[in-house]
Amino acid sequence: MTGSTPRLVVLPAADWATAVAAELAERLSGRPDLRIVLPTGDTPSPLYEEVVRAEREDRLALGGVTIVQLDEWVGLPPDDPARCDRRLRTELVARLRTPPAAFVTIDVDGPDPDAAARRHDDAARGIGLALLGLGPNGHVGFNEPGSGPDDPTRLVRLAVSSRDAATARYGATRVPTAGITIGLARLLEADEAWLLVTGERKAAILRRVLVEPEGPDRPASYLRRHPRLTVFADAEAAALLPR
Ligand code: PGA
Repeated sequence: MTGSTPRLVVLPAADWATAVAAELAERLSGRPDLRIVLPTGDTPSPLYEEVVRAEREDRLALGGVTIVQLDEWVGLPPDDPARCDRRLRTELVARLRTPPAAFVTIDVDGPDPDAAARRHDDAARGIGLALLGLGPNGHVGFNEPGSGPDDPTRLVRLAVSSRDAATARYGATRVPTAGITIGLARLLEADEAWLLVTGERKAAILRRVLVEPEGPDRPASYLRRHPRLTVFADAEAAALLPR
């Protein structure tokens, strides 16, 4: 299974967030009740800033949308600054004039994370649009190296680089013990997927993900099987791609 060639949109860094938000507004005007997967991290933050601005200026509406959280750390307290649900709430959901119809988070605080993952696998069906970041190790969500295209939503062991990023980059108060992520099987079933990639530090991995043969050492490469994948890269992230 090879899929079709992804659509690659390369933008100047200064225009990246506004251009992606404008395309999101267009999708939402066609499908106001979209079920949409959202990531957290430094990549989507400027996009959410722009989405909030657009919503306040009536250029975009999320009132009919169901937001489904992409992934979450296990072992961080609910108020931890690195928690993905907290970031999505503070960067986007709580700032909207009209909140989304639903915001489906991952219940990592309950007694049974495996059961929470299974419930989230159901929530991750029927997705209209999945927005995704790219990890420097080629992960997407917490589908870390070793993950495959048939993996469901599940409890996962985190790569060392992801655990380090939690504390060093996202300000986690302790080291997370695991993660729960929507699996590639569900992401490949979404009607459409957008891979969001910015900055020079992602240039080498973006090339490996898009140009080299797919493989479990860089699970994001399996997204190339998706029939409607768009890669929104800024010029720095796209610098090593063939012209
Ligand atoms: P970032 O993280 O957006 O903070 O770079 C992406 C990821 O590691 O999945």
